[in-house]
Amino acid sequence: MKMAFSHELDETVRSVNEIIKKGIPEVKGLQSTVLDSMDYSVEAGGKRIRPLMILKSYELYRDRTSGRDEFMLPVVHSFMCAMEMIHTSSLCHDDLPCMDGDKYRRGRESTWFKYGEAMGTLCGDALLMYAPEIVAKAYKKQLSEYSGGDKGITQEELNAYSLSFVRALDILMEKSGVYGMLGGQVVDVEMTGKPLTDEQLMFIYKLKTGALLQASLMIGAVLGGAKDEELKRLEDIGEKIGVAFQIQDDILDETSTVEVLGKPIHSDDENNKTTYVSIYGLSDAHKEVESLSKKAIDELKNLPDVNDQSREFLMNLTDMLINRKK
Ligand code: IPE
Ligand code: IPE
Ligand code: MG
Ligand code: MG
Ligand code: MG
Repeated sequence: MKMAFSHELDETVRSVNEIIKKGIPEVKGLQSTVLDSMDYSVEAGGKRIRPLMILKSYELYRDRTSGRDEFMLPVVHSFMCAMEMIHTSSLCHDDLPCMDGDKYRRGRESTWFKYGEAMGTLCGDALLMYAPEIVAKAYKKQLSEYSGGDKGITQEELNAYSLSFVRALDILMEKSGVYGMLGGQVVDVEMTGKPLTDEQLMFIYKLKTGALLQASLMIGAVLGGAKDEELKRLEDIGEKIGVAFQIQDDILDETSTVEVLGKPIHSDDENNKTTYVSIYGLSDAHKEVESLSKKAIDELKNLPDVNDQSREFLMNLTDMLINRKK
């Protein structure tokens, strides 16, 4: 990894972590156990790839509209929190004994293993529900502060921002639910222990992992003011990065260590999962990660009319994921 990028990445992840921390609800009240488990699983930290992508894809387009940033940035931050919550909720549920049955996650006990199965399930549900709640609240606050026109944003502009917000929320929900991540997990679970066709394997990877990465690129872009055809291109790039990301996850499940990965190794093997690695072997799997990532990088390079620094960041990030160790 290039030194300058590595430094920039560390700095950006640090600021993303601060944004996420502010979004986690306070642990208080009679339901504090679930609030504590939400804090525990989100705060544990991960690579924060998805919120990073939201931020950088927003920056790709935001220069186009003056005034947008002061209104929109808090909304972008709320989507970054929401995305990390939905992703973390998918991990809480994925680790449950009725799914992959994994006891470690992000370098500590997985949520169900620490809090019990009922609370592990409820924690995932709570994070899933808190995600749309936090973005709706953030948007409502901006609307009430900026309506009336005395802050220099016209009603017409606000109408355009509201349309962007609804589109971003639609993407977030669709890519998380039955037509996105959750749909992929359904087929992953149902097909466990069974041979998969290429088409079934790609369906699972595109949905269970690709969908949230697609959504991340698309949500930032739509809030920044990207047009439909631009969103389509980002959806395509996100799919390639997503499939590469899952294949690399499968590779690491075979080749890494618990200490480095922060989650169990050989989980796929023990659960009898058919993966890209179990079908094609490690060497071909690595070649596929590289090939898909290079295609995504090429497509990023060719995006017209975007901020060059943010483009560069996303290209470096994609390149970094090829040889990631965790
Ligand atoms: C793990 O995602 C689950 C997959 C989709 C492969 P990440 O590898 O992004 O997990 P964290 O957020 O860094 O823990
Ligand atoms: C799950 O894939 C992807 C999710 C939607 C959580 P895995 O089951 O391979 O993810 P890990 O390896 O447990 O993180
Ligand atoms: Mg799984
Ligand atoms: Mg798993
Ligand atoms: Mg895995």
